[in-house]
Amino acid sequence: MSYEVFNVVRGLHILAVIAWMAGMLFLPRLYAYDVEQTGKAEPLRSEMQGLLRLWQRRLLKIIINPAMTAAWIFGVWMILVHAHGFGQGWGFILLPWMATKLIAVVILSGWHGFLAGELKRIHAGTSTRSGRFWRMTNEIPFLLAIVAVLSVTVEWTLG
Ligand code: HEM
Repeated sequence: MSYEVFNVVRGLHILAVIAWMAGMLFLPRLYAYDVEQTGKAEPLRSEMQGLLRLWQRRLLKIIINPAMTAAWIFGVWMILVHAHGFGQGWGFILLPWMATKLIAVVILSGWHGFLAGELKRIHAGTSTRSGRFWRMTNEIPFLLAIVAVLSVTVEWTLG
């Protein structure tokens, strides 16, 4: 495996991650605006929620889901190259910095799944989350991104 190809894939991975994060940071804000329409006068409420739900669906289906898929594909490909191409073996994923990054990324993917589930519940009128909840949890992906990025840039070890 040439380093040139690896570096191109690393760049594509970072681009996919940027789109994934941007979408995950914006979607909860659309949820907050949506749930805060409850109790507002018609027909404004229906019109606003119709538009917000269209944006939510498009953001999830066109940006967030494909970006997450691409980030995982490029990321797993790089793990395979480290393990086999660079001869580091599967011990690579157990290196403290890589294991930390993978834990952050799995939690991030879980948050993505939660947001996708909430989209269905908000549209079905069964979500119990408030606008305050969405504003307070909005920064969760960014905190996880700090862990994921610093793990790979610092490559810290134990002791
Ligand atoms: C989706 C699952 C993911 C997997 C399997 C994965 C895996 C990897 C691997 C194996 C590398 C190469 C590390 C190296 O060669 O030094 C890498 C690079 C990188 N990853 Fe991920 N990653 C994932 C998601 C993320 C996320 C969510 C972020 C940020 C929020 C992120 C940020 C980065 C950055 C900035 C680099 C480049 C580091 C450098 O150039 O040294 N990754 N990733």
